[in-house]
Amino acid sequence: MGVVVLMNGKPVAPAAATVSVFDRGFLYGDSVYEVIRTYDGVPFEVHAHLERLDGSATRIGMRLPVSQAALTEEVAAAVALADLPEAYIRIVVTRGSGEIGLDPSLAVDPVRLMIVKPLTPPGSEAYTDGVRISVPAVRRNHKLALDPAAKTGNYLNSILALAEARRRGAYEAVILDHRGLVTEGSTSNVFAVLGDRLLTPPLDTGLLAGITRGVVLKIAPQAGLRPLEVPLAVDTLLGADEVMLTSTSREVLPVVEVDDEPIGAGTPGPAYRRLRAAFAEYVAAHNADRTR
Ligand code: PDD
Repeated sequence: MGVVVLMNGKPVAPAAATVSVFDRGFLYGDSVYEVIRTYDGVPFEVHAHLERLDGSATRIGMRLPVSQAALTEEVAAAVALADLPEAYIRIVVTRGSGEIGLDPSLAVDPVRLMIVKPLTPPGSEAYTDGVRISVPAVRRNHKLALDPAAKTGNYLNSILALAEARRRGAYEAVILDHRGLVTEGSTSNVFAVLGDRLLTPPLDTGLLAGITRGVVLKIAPQAGLRPLEVPLAVDTLLGADEVMLTSTSREVLPVVEVDDEPIGAGTPGPAYRRLRAAFAEYVAAHNADRTR
């Protein structure tokens, strides 16, 4: 069927799937969202994604309108209806609409959307050749302002960072916090390999707890790496043997250049290849055990 949209749990033709101009998601980015993917048609780590959605809602003082069990069923129904080789699943919950004004108590009727469409992972050359990333001047939102741990519909900070990186010809941005420490990419998490250590910034730096990040930290030992969550300076990235990005649609992606400085040998390295193999094994085990 291709693209499927559910609005508040009901299928709606994609062209007819619209929200009110008074919706706070549209007016203020007052919403939360998740992006999930399938492997062989099975949604990956649904429970972890829905837990994070619930956590994002809690962080902005919102409650999800339906239970996680109901959302899990909706994901399965939408994926079955779309009948795609592999699906991208976006869940959006807005605080709703009402009289225009910032006060959240003006909001009524939260809107729950699910968009299922074909998954478009990066081309194979991104994995064989690696990608270039850039450190923009734009800094990550301070966690006391808008905590990056919440995946909200307000992505302007990431949009501005990515736009800057793209202007420099880079594939992704690596965003620093106010102190100059590495946080994450615009829609990815960042890892550095130093010897047998796999380094990534700790969550309290102020970043999204990526589901792929969590899986990679868990499987690192299978790839012969010792995972370590430590504050990362840009110089540590530049001096690393290897650098990688992780996210739902990209899985583990090798980085070969940061702002025109080559990383390691300037080609995807052995730690990346081992992690990629371990990740594929994890996915196979996940799908063999569909009760997760
Ligand atoms: N983004 N950091 C940010 C800011 C993100 O938006 C994302 C994912 C990640 C990686 O998280 P995960 O491994 O759970 O995909 C890190 C999704 C894919 C998106 O907005 O499209």
